[in-house]
Amino acid sequence: MKFTTLLFPAVVLGAACPYGTFKPEEPTDTRGVCPMLNALSNHGFLPRNGRNINENQTVNALNDALNLTPDFGRFLFTAGRLSNPKPNATTFNLNHLDRHDLFEHDGSLSRQDAHFGQWSRFNQTVWNWTLQYYTGDVLDVQMVANGRAQRHMRSNLTDPEYRLSEVGHEFSVAENAAILSIIGDKVTQTCPKKFVDFLFTNEQLPYSIGWKKSGLPISLQDLLRTYHDIEEATAFPPRPASDNSTEIFN
Ligand code: HEM
Repeated sequence: MKFTTLLFPAVVLGAACPYGTFKPEEPTDTRGVCPMLNALSNHGFLPRNGRNINENQTVNALNDALNLTPDFGRFLFTAGRLSNPKPNATTFNLNHLDRHDLFEHDGSLSRQDAHFGQWSRFNQTVWNWTLQYYTGDVLDVQMVANGRAQRHMRSNLTDPEYRLSEVGHEFSVAENAAILSIIGDKVTQTCPKKFVDFLFTNEQLPYSIGWKKSGLPISLQDLLRTYHDIEEATAFPPRPASDNSTEIFN
């Protein structure tokens, strides 16, 4: 058989499948608190086992799958690297992100607070609470702000150990901004609800229901525009008092 004949199916498949094939995690794989990084591992943009993820792999995965700029990718990788309990680590595993009160925080949209038990994986009850505040088919800044405020308000009222550091606050707002500016449209700051629900529930990119990665590169500055608009639209809870920890989302 000629080499070109052998190669042909791969070329056709490659052309027909511009994104990583989805394969749910195996029991030996590692996943964690971030629904997007879990999905990127499930598609093979990040290592499927979820382990030893380095800066290049992160920057390339975020660029290939989501059109994040390399600078933004490097910035986000820092949070991953700092989550690794080994000092001076150059890689991280997805479950390193679960370290409670480092970047992981109470009042997540789809995870219960650590006080109540397993806190790092998707929880349908918690997600249903959030979905109640997503009152339209297309999420906008106000709906996302309400969904976020609702989670912190509920946690504050029901979790005797509820707390939110300055960094936790910044991550919480940034994750909500990411829904609109990365999964959705950074210009209009909107996102079809079905894409977000699909991603959170299946830890799979919502290609099959019409999602495409942004045609425009997405920078940290783009995220911050939405970040500030969400803060403006948030009526409750108030921003926590400064606790002297490092601010990374200014
Ligand atoms: C290296 C890159 C990234 C790191 C280190 C990271 C880290 C984290 C961490 C630590 C959390 C848990 C926060 C919590 O307690 O709720 C989280 C949640 C989240 N991340 Fe990521 N993330 C990354 C990339 C992304 C990207 C590109 C998106 C784009 C949409 C994203 C979207 C989210 C969302 C929406 C949540 C909230 C989940 C919830 O509240 O239930 N992340 N991420």
